[in-house]
Amino acid sequence: MLTTTTIAEVRRLVAAWRARGERVVFVPTMGNLHAGHVSLLGAAKQHGERFVASIFVNPMQFGPNEDFNHYPRTPQRDTDMLAAAGCDLMFMPDVAEIYPHGAELAARIEVPGISAVLCGEFRPGHFQGVATVVAKLFNIVAPDVAIFGLKDFQQLAVIQRMTDDLCLPVRIVGAPTVREADGLAMSSRNQYLSADERQMAPAIYRELKRASERIQAGSRDFGRIEADGAQVLDELGFRVDYFAVRDQLTLYAPGHDTRALAILTAARLSRARLIDNITFEL
Ligand code: PAF
Repeated sequence: MLTTTTIAEVRRLVAAWRARGERVVFVPTMGNLHAGHVSLLGAAKQHGERFVASIFVNPMQFGPNEDFNHYPRTPQRDTDMLAAAGCDLMFMPDVAEIYPHGAELAARIEVPGISAVLCGEFRPGHFQGVATVVAKLFNIVAPDVAIFGLKDFQQLAVIQRMTDDLCLPVRIVGAPTVREADGLAMSSRNQYLSADERQMAPAIYRELKRASERIQAGSRDFGRIEADGAQVLDELGFRVDYFAVRDQLTLYAPGHDTRALAILTAARLSRARLIDNITFEL
């Protein structure tokens, strides 16, 4: 696996592959890789011949009181994992390479509506930071296909909308959430959990499944289902940001004719803010 910290080198290598007719698949990450990320590389294999992964903890997507400084950084382990997963090129830029004029004053991409709901309400500016860095990475790597985890369902929706609206020539592919044996979605933030909290955390997916089963069994009282899900998690000791039944495409409340549903939740256990979702068709 090749590694580089510079935009110029990424462009040079990708241009050479493209000149040979090879399709380039891109997996953007913030590092601290786990089996979920490795599965994104696995999914990438179905879409091209060359695989690029980025490792960049993007300051623009963290709020002032969030965990940017403490976000786990494990570059050597990440390098080994990407090499073992068959990645061709790892791009690990520093902040100045991505934001040469500083992140504060950098041009930004806003995707209205879909960025403002759910996590957008609780993390103002977060999706602007995500959309901006992903657009920059797309401009740097110029991939044919980019792979994102379905665990971050709203992030995927924002990126899809940005890609459509800006006519970016990249196909966005969502890859299934990878779970621990007890159902907890894999996430770098799981390591913030104490042993007791780790025991509790699978309740998130259990409640999502319970809610989806109620809807699939015929219940349409989404308000009740949302309140029950939030209450169960709250009583277990989570601080629930939201537990919401939404239209998969718009992330707004489902209409009478909505068929594709998503139930999404974000809930905190002390330092860890965990998100998860379940999707299904009626
Ligand atoms: O999901 C992530 O790891 C990040 O939000 C992403 C897409 C790499 C942008 O920084």
